[in-house]
Amino acid sequence: MKQVKIGVVGAGTWGETHASIYREHSNAIPVAICDKDIEKAKKIAEKYGISEVYSDYRQMAAKCDCDAVAIVTPDFLHADIATTFADAKKDLLIEKPLATNRKDIDRICEAVERNGVRAMVDLHNRWNPPFNTAKQKIEAGVIGEPYTAYIRHSDIKWVATDLLPWAAKSSILWFLGSHSLDALCWFFNDDVKRVYSVKRKGILQKLNVDTDDIFQTTLEFKKGGIAQMENGWITPNGNGNVNDFRCNILGTKGSVNINASNHNLIQIATEQKTEIPDILVSNMVFDRCKGLSYESIRDFVDRLVDGKPFRVSLEDARKNAITIIAILESAEKKIPIEVSF
Ligand SMILES: NC(=O)c1ccc[n+]([C@@H]2O[C@H](COP(=O)([O-])OP(=O)(O)OC[C@H]3O[C@@H](n4cnc5c(N)ncnc54)[C@H](O)[C@@H]3O)[C@@H](O)[C@H]2O)c1
Repeated sequence: MKQVKIGVVGAGTWGETHASIYREHSNAIPVAICDKDIEKAKKIAEKYGISEVYSDYRQMAAKCDCDAVAIVTPDFLHADIATTFADAKKDLLIEKPLATNRKDIDRICEAVERNGVRAMVDLHNRWNPPFNTAKQKIEAGVIGEPYTAYIRHSDIKWVATDLLPWAAKSSILWFLGSHSLDALCWFFNDDVKRVYSVKRKGILQKLNVDTDDIFQTTLEFKKGGIAQMENGWITPNGNGNVNDFRCNILGTKGSVNINASNHNLIQIATEQKTEIPDILVSNMVFDRCKGLSYESIRDFVDRLVDGKPFRVSLEDARKNAITIIAILESAEKKIPIEVSF
């Protein structure tokens, strides 16, 4: 059985998730971990039996005999690492978004192409059961042609104020908007041609996180579809679920309605609050990782083993990042922006 040796760069919250899945996957071996904070890397290395620990990804690229690398650093720190490992001939799983500016996007795509390596971006919503089922129904023609859509994918404030130390240097559009946009493009099987976005700022600023609160965006697709996309990270912390995630797709012959947050599969109530854990996203069953956010990472390993195309192409991720840049520009300038790929 083919074993894929994998290195992980970024030993934060999500880097640990990657390490745990590579440990668990029967075709993967996590062989190296790197974080500029070496103590974080050591901790994960010990927990998941990873033998090589680095604080400098360039050193890791020069020394590590791995087949692939997962890049799990903050949203805006993917490009230097991705190009370095592409030049070292490693296949790449890059956390979403691909990159946050046009130059970085182009640099990564150019390095992947030039080195003939494979790259996937972890736009994992395609593995989300209700979204995946919706796509199957659309492909089977059950609702006709998708005509319009609405999606809301937002987080509670805690994600920006407590979970991500770098939220002020990113945007909810990169953090969750990339997932929403990927789902919409996948459903419409189309690219966005024009965007118009309006944003508000102030609530998070008062909480000492200098980033936009919320974006409401209209997307026009090339073949005529229109969609409304809402992304914010100012949902109240008392929300039962970290995510507020809904989607409606209206087709020419029917519709699909998804409520992926208040799914009520399980409620846990205490004297203080009621929680609705995001078990569709992630949960542990007898110490094994389950949930859509793990399935995409597993699928990356599966595709390295069987050689089939990744389910999210680099081109999809490139267009996704370019469209988010256009949305940010539209919200800043308060005008519609034509998306140019
Ligand atoms: N697909 C998903 O569901 C999902 C979920 C959470 C986060 N993410 C993505 O994963 C990425 C990381 O997010 P996170 O929540 O783990 O952030 P985090 O802040 O918890 O971890 C990032 C780590 O990267 C390290 N780092 C920064 N620069 C580095 C460098 N040059 N070399 C080595 N290490 C470096 C930091 O020290 C930190 O430990 C982001 O792009 C985020 O959007 C994806």
